[in-house]
Amino acid sequence: MAQANTTNQKDSPKPKRIISLKDLWPFLKPYRLQVGIAFVLLCLASATLLLVPLAFRDLIDVGFGKSDGAAPTINIDTKFGVLFGLATFWALMVASRYYMVSWIGERVTVDLRSGVYASVLRQSPQFFETLQTGEVLSRLTGDTTLIQTVVGSSASMGLRSVFQFVGGMIMLAVTSFYLFSINIGLMICLIFPIMLIGRSVKKLSRESQDRIADSSAMAGEILNAMPTVQSYTQETRETNRFTHSAQLSFVTAIRRTKVRALLTAVIITAVMGTIIFVLWLGARQVSEGVMTGGELASFVLYAAMVAGSVSTIAQVWGDIMRAAGATERLLELLHAETAITEAANPLPLASVSQAAIQFSNVTFHYPSRPRTPALNNVSLHINAGETLALVGPSGAGKTTIFQLLLRFYDAQTGSITINDQNINDISLHDLRGLMAIVPQDPVIFSANVLENIRYGQPNATDEAVIAAARAAQVAQFVPQLSDGYNTFLGERGTRLSGGQKQRIAIARAMLKNAPILLLDEATSALDAESEILVQEGLSAAMQGRTTLIIAHRLATVQKADKIVVMENGEMVETGDAVELRKKGGLYARLAELQFES
Ligand SMILES: Nc1ncnc2c1ncn2[C@@H]1O[C@H](COP(=O)(O)OP(=O)(O)O)[C@@H](O)[C@H]1O
Ligand SMILES: [Mg+2]
Repeated sequence: MAQANTTNQKDSPKPKRIISLKDLWPFLKPYRLQVGIAFVLLCLASATLLLVPLAFRDLIDVGFGKSDGAAPTINIDTKFGVLFGLATFWALMVASRYYMVSWIGERVTVDLRSGVYASVLRQSPQFFETLQTGEVLSRLTGDTTLIQTVVGSSASMGLRSVFQFVGGMIMLAVTSFYLFSINIGLMICLIFPIMLIGRSVKKLSRESQDRIADSSAMAGEILNAMPTVQSYTQETRETNRFTHSAQLSFVTAIRRTKVRALLTAVIITAVMGTIIFVLWLGARQVSEGVMTGGELASFVLYAAMVAGSVSTIAQVWGDIMRAAGATERLLELLHAETAITEAANPLPLASVSQAAIQFSNVTFHYPSRPRTPALNNVSLHINAGETLALVGPSGAGKTTIFQLLLRFYDAQTGSITINDQNINDISLHDLRGLMAIVPQDPVIFSANVLENIRYGQPNATDEAVIAAARAAQVAQFVPQLSDGYNTFLGERGTRLSGGQKQRIAIARAMLKNAPILLLDEATSALDAESEILVQEGLSAAMQGRTTLIIAHRLATVQKADKIVVMENGEMVETGDAVELRKKGGLYARLAELQFES
């Protein structure tokens, strides 16, 4: 499903033009001083290099050619001195430019990565339904590396080559206009086929990047599900699937490489052929006495310079094209609009200590399932400090109520208010600050117990954290851990049982100390004894808080002020436990099943 989604997204035609590189400018702008310095260094280095053939011409014509007595040795010495001076200065300029440009490249990459990461973290869950995390990761690392190559080296190499090309051409024309004209004529014939091949390299590059992203997305998903894969002994099948996907990226990469190899061959042959041909004409001119040896030598050097710059430009062009594709993909992430829009001028919260919640005629379908409503015309009211229980079969829409309250999704019709303020009118930060949630499958970070609980309130003292741990009965199993509260819990809490993870999540929510408490099957993985203990802690936490509690076990919701029974996205019954049992509806049936055993 997710696989299909990503593929669809890629198939949509997107113009990939070099112009997309201009979108990098906002990232370069803060470093325009450095860019300026690099540019000056580049100009100096190029100018110096252009003087070298002139020094050679002098060397040959003046130093060797018309020597008639004592002067030559002195002359030769100074000429070589000048040449060496030029070389040293050139080396200095090249080194400084290299440093400057690499610095800019590294800097821009870091900024770009952080920017894209920040943007991705703002996205609503809907975003991650269509874009796999593996894909995001590959863009964050692969694409930014491509851009780093371009900003940190290719771009300046390209620019240097352009200078050399232009300067070299001018010097060629000055040195021998006859040879130059022939040279130019030949080059014009060659440029078009080269550009044509370059275009297809660019297209193949994005394809190749996409295939790599596909296989890393696949690997990411499977690595997260290792126990399931192994218990169903699907290792071979998964390995084959990955191999197939890797093979696909190989085939695409090779297609690109073939075209690029062809491009290289065409360019080298063309350029060398031109040089040799022109050199041949030049040699004949020297033997006829129309040209001096020094002039021909400098012409050859300039021609080599021009040829070198052309081949560099061709190579760099490929990189630049790939970076243009990468920039587009990154900017897609950077400028992705979240489905949840915040009010431009959010209202201040009416109250930060208590919350009355009202759902009015809320109808909602998940974007990926537009035809079946997950909630159908739901209206409910909870007074501040009260407890409301949501019960009903799985798939009834209970968790969806929490998702809407947290504004992970927006309802299509109806409204949700907290203290009579529409939740769309307050900032997401304030809104979510009002709630502490214990989700259905709690998340444990790769950190120790203390830090995991402290996630609920990052500046809480150790004492506060441990108090929350006691209330949630985390303290009960901590002594069994190798390092007490400082025990590292492993990635995604693989070193804890389901019930232990739930208790950490409960402690985290308690520590947050928010006016609304959302409990989604918060004690479902606990044994009966721990559940009673945790329930005590939770009851304390629920004091004075507005609590929404989703529970399968009806025993846990007996004391709720109100129970809402849901089925297929609709509210079918409301009342307290006693009323509902008398009614003889769905709740009574469920209760009968559970309490009998
Ligand atoms: N992200 C989603 N995209 C599409 N459908 C969803 C999504 N999450 C839940 N659903 C569907 O919405 C309905 C209600 O789900 P949920 O609120 O999670 O039920 P529960 O009462 O078990 O908590 C179910 O039919 C479920 O399949
Ligand atoms: Mg649920």
